[in-house]
Amino acid sequence: MPQVVYIEELPRHVGEEVTIRGWLFNKRSSGKIRFLIVRDGTGFLQCVATAKDTEAESFELCERLPQEASLVVTGTVRADSRAPGGYELLLKELTPVQIPKEQFPITLKEHGVGFLMDHRHLWIRMRRQFAILRVRDAVLWAIREFFKGEGFVATECPIIVGTQVEGTTTLFPLDYFGEPAYLSQSGQLYLEATCMALGKVYWIGPAFRAEKSKTRRHLTEFWMAEAEMAYFEHEDNLALQERLVRYIVEYVISERKRELEILERDVELLRREVEGPFARVTYAEAVEIVNSHGVPMEHGDDFGAPAEDALSHHFGRPVFVERFPARIKPFYMKRAPDDPSVVLCADLIAPEGYGEIIGGSQRVDTEEELLRQLEEYELPREPYQWYIDLRRWGSVPHSGFGLGVERTIAWICGIRHIREAIPFPRMLDRLYP
Ligand code: 4AD
Ligand code: MG
Repeated sequence: MPQVVYIEELPRHVGEEVTIRGWLFNKRSSGKIRFLIVRDGTGFLQCVATAKDTEAESFELCERLPQEASLVVTGTVRADSRAPGGYELLLKELTPVQIPKEQFPITLKEHGVGFLMDHRHLWIRMRRQFAILRVRDAVLWAIREFFKGEGFVATECPIIVGTQVEGTTTLFPLDYFGEPAYLSQSGQLYLEATCMALGKVYWIGPAFRAEKSKTRRHLTEFWMAEAEMAYFEHEDNLALQERLVRYIVEYVISERKRELEILERDVELLRREVEGPFARVTYAEAVEIVNSHGVPMEHGDDFGAPAEDALSHHFGRPVFVERFPARIKPFYMKRAPDDPSVVLCADLIAPEGYGEIIGGSQRVDTEEELLRQLEEYELPREPYQWYIDLRRWGSVPHSGFGLGVERTIAWICGIRHIREAIPFPRMLDRLYP
C-alpha cells in the first residue's frame, strides 16, 4: 500500500508512489493526456493521466468526474518546474469518494460578490480563500508565539457582560434571565483585573459591535488580540505593539510564502513597511496632515476612512496617532499629565489604506479620576463597582491595547474588504451562511 501523504509534503517523496486524499479542483485535456488539479487543504497538485500509465477505469473516470468530486489518487511524485507548485503526480489509480450530481455553484469564472457571499460555505474552497484562511492561521500563531516569548500569560474574558466598554451605540443587547446584558465589545476591563493578578496577560477572542453602517472595514463580529500589562506606561505600550506587528508580518512572510504568491501580494513592500521604526504623530498634527491632503476634517472629529487613508499614504508605513482629545475616546483612558484635554492613547494606522489596526491606551489608575470620568460619561457607578475596586487595592500604572485580527489579515493579504479575512463574516446584512 502506498503511503498516504499531504500535498505540502510532496517535496520529501519525489520518485515514490504515494496516495493523496482530496477533491477535484479543475481539469483539462491536451491531446491524449488528462490533467487533474487536485486540492487537499494543504495545497493544489497537478495529476497527469495517460492511457499508458493510468489504469483504464481511472483514466476513463478522468473524463467524467465533475468539479469538487471527492477522490483518492495514487501515483508517482515527479519534480517538474513547469507544474504549478513544482511537483506533479503521474496518476496510476483514482477512486472517487463522492461524485456530485449537479454542477458546483462556483465555477472558475468570475462571480458577483453577493453570490459568492451567499455561497461562502463553498467559496472557501477556492484558491484565494484557501490562501487567506491559511494566512489567518499564521497570524493567530504569530500572536500566540509572540506573547509567549514576551512572558505573557494567556487568559480568557467573558462574552456575556453587563457593562459597555466602547460606547452604547454598538451594543448587542440580550436578556440574561430578566437582567439586561450585552455581547462583549472588548475584554479590556476584565484584562485590567487579570493583569493585576498575573502581570502581563493577553487573549484572542471575539468582539461584538452592532455596526449599523456598511463599510469594508467593519464586521459586527470580529476577533481581537488584546493585551494588558501592569506597570506599563504609554511608551512601553507602544514599543510592545510595534514589536508585535513586526513579528506578525515577518512570521507570515516566512511561513506563508506560497499563499502570499497566490494572493499576488507585494511582499517586498510589506517587508519594507515594517522594517524601520513606525511613524508617530499627535492627533493635532494628524488633523493637519489630513487637511493638507485635501480631506476636510475639524479638530475634535474622529478619523473617517478617507482621513485614515490620507495618513497611511502620507507615511507609507504604520503610524501611531497619539494624544486624542479625551471627549472622543472612552472613559477608561488616562489623561496626559501635561494636558488634561488629551489622553495617553494611540491608534495604529496600517499602511496602504487598511485603516486602524490597533487601539490602545494607558488606563485611569486612581479611584478619584475613574469616578470623575464615569460621571462625565454619564455611566452608572453600580455595574462598574468591581472595576472601581481595582483602583482601591494595589492600583498601579497599566496599559493595554487591542489588535483587530481581520484588519491585520486584510493588510497582510492585500484584500480590500475584511469580509474575506474571516471564514464566516457577520455584517449588517449578513447572518447566513
Ligand atoms: O479601537 P478599539 O475599539 O479598542 C478597544 O476595543 C479597546 N478596548 C481594546 C483594548 O485596549 N484592549 O478596537 C480595537 C481594534 C481596532 O483598532 C480595529 O482594528 C478593530 O479592533 N475593530 C474592528 N475590526 C473589525 N470590525 C469592527 N467593527 C471593528 N471595531 C474595531
Ligand atoms: Mg479604535
